[in-house]
Amino acid sequence: MTDYNQTFIDLGYIVASILFIIGIKMLGRPERARTGNLVSASGMLIAIVSVMFECCLSFEWVIVGLLIGSVIGAISARLVQMTAMPQMVAVLNGFGGIASLLVGWENYHSHPDSNLMIRIAVLLAVLIGGVAFSGSLVAYAKLAGRISGRPVIFARQQWINLGNLALIVVFGALLIYHPTGAFPYVIFVLIMCLAMTLGIFGVIPIGGADMPVVIALLNSYSGLAACAAGFIILNNVLIVAGSLVGASGLILTGIMCKAMNRSLGNVLFGGLGATAAGNAATVQGEPKPISPEDAYYILEAARSVVVVPGYGMAVAQAQHAVRELGEILENNGAEVRYAIHPVAGRMPGHMNVLLAEANVMYEQLAEMEDVNPIMETVDICIVIGANDVVNPSAREMESSPIYGMPIINADRAKTVMVLKRSMAAGFAGVDNPLFIGQNTRMLFGDAKATVQQLVTEFKES
Ligand code: TAP
Repeated sequence: MTDYNQTFIDLGYIVASILFIIGIKMLGRPERARTGNLVSASGMLIAIVSVMFECCLSFEWVIVGLLIGSVIGAISARLVQMTAMPQMVAVLNGFGGIASLLVGWENYHSHPDSNLMIRIAVLLAVLIGGVAFSGSLVAYAKLAGRISGRPVIFARQQWINLGNLALIVVFGALLIYHPTGAFPYVIFVLIMCLAMTLGIFGVIPIGGADMPVVIALLNSYSGLAACAAGFIILNNVLIVAGSLVGASGLILTGIMCKAMNRSLGNVLFGGLGATAAGNAATVQGEPKPISPEDAYYILEAARSVVVVPGYGMAVAQAQHAVRELGEILENNGAEVRYAIHPVAGRMPGHMNVLLAEANVMYEQLAEMEDVNPIMETVDICIVIGANDVVNPSAREMESSPIYGMPIINADRAKTVMVLKRSMAAGFAGVDNPLFIGQNTRMLFGDAKATVQQLVTEFKES
């Protein structure tokens, strides 16, 4: 390859890396997120084309791969429901992990005696990629309800994980110093199996409300594995892209830990799991159901209203009806705010995206820290399909599996109106004493239908 060609390829890599960074930056604001996605995708296309020129690969196979991947990606992006996005992200993380593992395996298979740096990179790609792959599949199964979302705990689980990791380190050291031959190959395969076992045993004890942290962490692992794969094939753009995903995943993990008021160690090695499996306290008492007509009379008199949206609003696709109700209440003289919990819904920013889509004014959105201190002065808190994020047992009941998780103090409003279909528990599987509170009224039904009924009540009155 001439120097001239190489310069163009390097330029392609630099442009692709810059587009990735700009794309990620744009994802920070809902109104620019769509363009940000396109910018990053263009970066990926430039990266693929540059790689094809650099490696002088057989073009037809790369194009076939590009087409198959793009078709699968486009179809899934259209078919997958917004509420199933976390499962999709989990699967994509897993694919990233297995791709890096396969790059490592292929390299070891063809060049077992490559230099020390590559051997270390191969081991990291296989270890982190294996953990990301199997861990993500378990996370997918939990989120999609294919297996129980509850923590699965058995005796000496953490010791088994520690032993597993120790074995990987010992086998890895052996492989680095004696990489060739039939015995080292068996050890290599063992390392892959141990890494995947570590991913499974690492994620099954985590359940309930801590899943956002796990998904962010697995996302970071898939990036780090890709970065290691970049060192194996000496590809700068893969190193940059992998580092970006790894670093942003770690930052998101930190944000999620903060939102859940937990340390990463607490999420990964205990706390929630131990209690969730066993002594989740059940809540005794009778709820007070009301009709949309009763709800209308309560809302009609309200002067300050806080809406707390949750996963149920996303399931019902009630955001447009909610915005319409908000406008009606404002025209009726009430001050309306929307309190957003950082882990409401099933993905970071889920509620912000839905409300932005429904044209709710950005200034009306309030963060948990801002709305909690004034909750006692709020006439009505309307909880729409939210459950765990307003569960007072997280604040008061030490035996609760979600104890310590910050919540929106909906129960402290003068009146609470909860819109959901039944008394069923939320994602964490924990009963919610809010629903039987003295000041709580339950408005049962699908969130969209119920909010539309309220809108009709106002219009007809
Ligand atoms: P959840 O605790 O999951 O509760 C949602 C509630 O919505 C359910 O109790 C359900 O009750 C109700 N619902 C479902 N469909 C409905 C419909 N069509 N109409 C009305 N209500 C409906 O939601 P949340 O309060 O938003 O909390 C989120 C949970 O997910 C947290 O535990 C969080 O840790 C976890 N999580 C979050 C993320 C991120 S990053 N946000 C990722 C993974 C997990 P009914 O069945 O009785 O209607």
